[in-house]
Amino acid sequence: MTPPDAPAFPSGGDVIEENRNGLIGRGVVRVDGPDKVTGRALYTYDTRELGKAACGVLVSATVGPARVTAIDLAEAREAPGVRLVWGPADAPPQAEHGALVGAADVPARVISAKPALDQRLTRHFGDTVAVVVADTFENARSAAGLVRIAYEALPAARLVADNLGAASSTPGDPPLEQGDVEAALATAEVVIDATYTTPIQHHAAIEPHASLAAWDGDRLTIFTATQLLKSTRQSLAETLQVPQASIRVVSRYVGGGFGGKIFPLADAVLASLAARALGCPVKIALSRHQVFQGSTHRSATIQRIRLGSDRDGRLTALAHECVSHQSRFLEFNEHPGSVSKSLYAAPNRRIVNAVVDLDLPMAGAVRAPGEASGMLAIECAMDELAEALGLDPIELRVRNEPTLDPTSGKPFGSRGLVACMREGASRFSWTSRRAPGQVRDGRWLVGLGMAAAIRGNHLIRAEAQIRLEPDGGVTVRQGMTDIGTGAYTILAQIAAEALGVPTDQVSMELGDSDFPPTPGSGGSFGAASAGSAVLEAAMNLRRALAERAVADPASHFHGAQPEAAVFEDGRMVIGNRAQAMGDLVRLVAPEGLEVRGAIIPPASYHDHSHQAHGAHFAEVGVDVVTGEVRVRRMLGVFAAGRILNAQTARSQVVGGMIWGVGAALMEESHVDARDGSLTGWDLSAYHVPTHADIGDLDAVFLDERDDHGNPMKIKGIGELGISGAGAAIANAIYNACGARLRDYPMSLDKLLASGALPAG
Ligand code: MOS
Repeated sequence: MTPPDAPAFPSGGDVIEENRNGLIGRGVVRVDGPDKVTGRALYTYDTRELGKAACGVLVSATVGPARVTAIDLAEAREAPGVRLVWGPADAPPQAEHGALVGAADVPARVISAKPALDQRLTRHFGDTVAVVVADTFENARSAAGLVRIAYEALPAARLVADNLGAASSTPGDPPLEQGDVEAALATAEVVIDATYTTPIQHHAAIEPHASLAAWDGDRLTIFTATQLLKSTRQSLAETLQVPQASIRVVSRYVGGGFGGKIFPLADAVLASLAARALGCPVKIALSRHQVFQGSTHRSATIQRIRLGSDRDGRLTALAHECVSHQSRFLEFNEHPGSVSKSLYAAPNRRIVNAVVDLDLPMAGAVRAPGEASGMLAIECAMDELAEALGLDPIELRVRNEPTLDPTSGKPFGSRGLVACMREGASRFSWTSRRAPGQVRDGRWLVGLGMAAAIRGNHLIRAEAQIRLEPDGGVTVRQGMTDIGTGAYTILAQIAAEALGVPTDQVSMELGDSDFPPTPGSGGSFGAASAGSAVLEAAMNLRRALAERAVADPASHFHGAQPEAAVFEDGRMVIGNRAQAMGDLVRLVAPEGLEVRGAIIPPASYHDHSHQAHGAHFAEVGVDVVTGEVRVRRMLGVFAAGRILNAQTARSQVVGGMIWGVGAALMEESHVDARDGSLTGWDLSAYHVPTHADIGDLDAVFLDERDDHGNPMKIKGIGELGISGAGAAIANAIYNACGARLRDYPMSLDKLLASGALPAG
């Protein structure tokens, strides 16, 4: 249920703007860093506080979809240490797959029921077909190898390209049609018509999905690696058919998410069910192979882009028509065309994000769903148009810069795209760019490319609690996660800045669904949503403390104006009176003081179009003999509102840019038509950039404020860095050697086959 809009942003933003204590923007080192490097920070599988846990191991289907024709669990059940073995359809009753009884404020696919071992069918390769629980992990894994299951494969659709006739738009994403695209293309002076393909990509967070469950009567406590506590709790409640209030989800440290940990998988469901059946804690982690085949992947896409332009490079038509896939039993639309909604002005536009149902492991959100694959197409098409016009690629983009959002007609919260391109051009010596094939360095052809970056910026309702302790320390509690982004640190900075205390005096307690709810970490909405709630709570605490102080005859603030209170250097100050927080608390709030705060997007938020922006620049060398591509230099310039922490922000965008290198050059998974598996099994089969693949890489943030997105004037950055990064590399490859590859990744076999490389 969406709560009613608040009238306007609360006033806490002024405190962030003022930055009296200098904590906002500073590259404060991670407050959880020492705990992580010393091993004190316990991730789910290592948690001991529920007592000794039995260990479960999942058995995954070796073909899917399939009917299970024979099951033999006898040997596994007799193996040493085994406490429980369930095969297909053996698990206790659960809700039907996809059932949703409760209210939905996020997409149903995230929070609906996801039963496991509920049928004698496999939905896809890698679907869970058995669980073995034993006294130790080793015994469980050994016994899991004794489970015998036979299958009869069912007819399956495996490839987007083979099923284009079945493509349709999902109900939530109807095609966008403005003006008359076909007529405008027919009369355009210059037309680009190009089709780009992107392959299935995987995320593989360093911490695999893992869950540790224990019941106390009817109450379930589950430690689980999740980005979204609230959604995970609801999906588990739907699956297990218990009230949400009887489930506590704990996720204090999460070793990466990338969209792969937004709803509970079989580890969570079966740990919960087995713990109830055995009456003891049960923990289950996915193997690396299970992460690849049994969690989610980024859908493959086919994207046809048609651009019509006049001779001056003004777009008259823009059509971005996409097909991607979803798993037949889990709704998901990668929607790569959506990036073109707000990117460039063009009077005649068509955007289509069609999907086909395939019988594959689950497609789902992977860092910057939509933008990450969509920018690989539209930003190369713009490069092709610039080439056809003989126009600088930056100038082409500048000529098509919209003043209002071209789809919604709304003003932008703020828009720094052109500024990023200009700043990047100057820092990257863009004017040294030559025509394709003109720059040679030994056996390397060298080229420069650029691409825009854009990513939606979101604010979602969130709450927080802050407690001023009797000793003057501050405790922040919030149902928020830190998936490695630095959430602990930036939230501590916000609280510390507002309360005028050092960050090491703020203890952060995150990752517990018993704490005030937030949407969690995902969609780049975490910092704005959770952060604004912490700020609001801190402002409420300031008010409460100041009011007590001025009302207390024993306080030397007695009778002063509470609105005039400022908090700096560990003191509350009103006019010429000041007192250390510890002393003040001892006097006016000896039991401590606890308040809550909430952020609710105001009506004005919805009056604007919200994105963060950037520009990517890449210099690549293409080996004329082998076709190998090396990224020699890369620069990202970003306009993402106020930056809360220079260090963690940089880490976010640099990580995204490196993923862009992977998307451009290495990452691909294919469907094995024999069994429905994906060829990316692990990090030996699925190639990602290593240190040696990354040369000189830099990221810069422009000084920007967005007055309309949230009180702190920040923007989300977790997904901005990947958006467009790969396209800059693709465009640099073209500039180096004249090969216009449209099928990602741009591996050396494709470069050799292009015919563009001169012999040695
Ligand atoms: Mo993100 S891919 O919404 O975690």
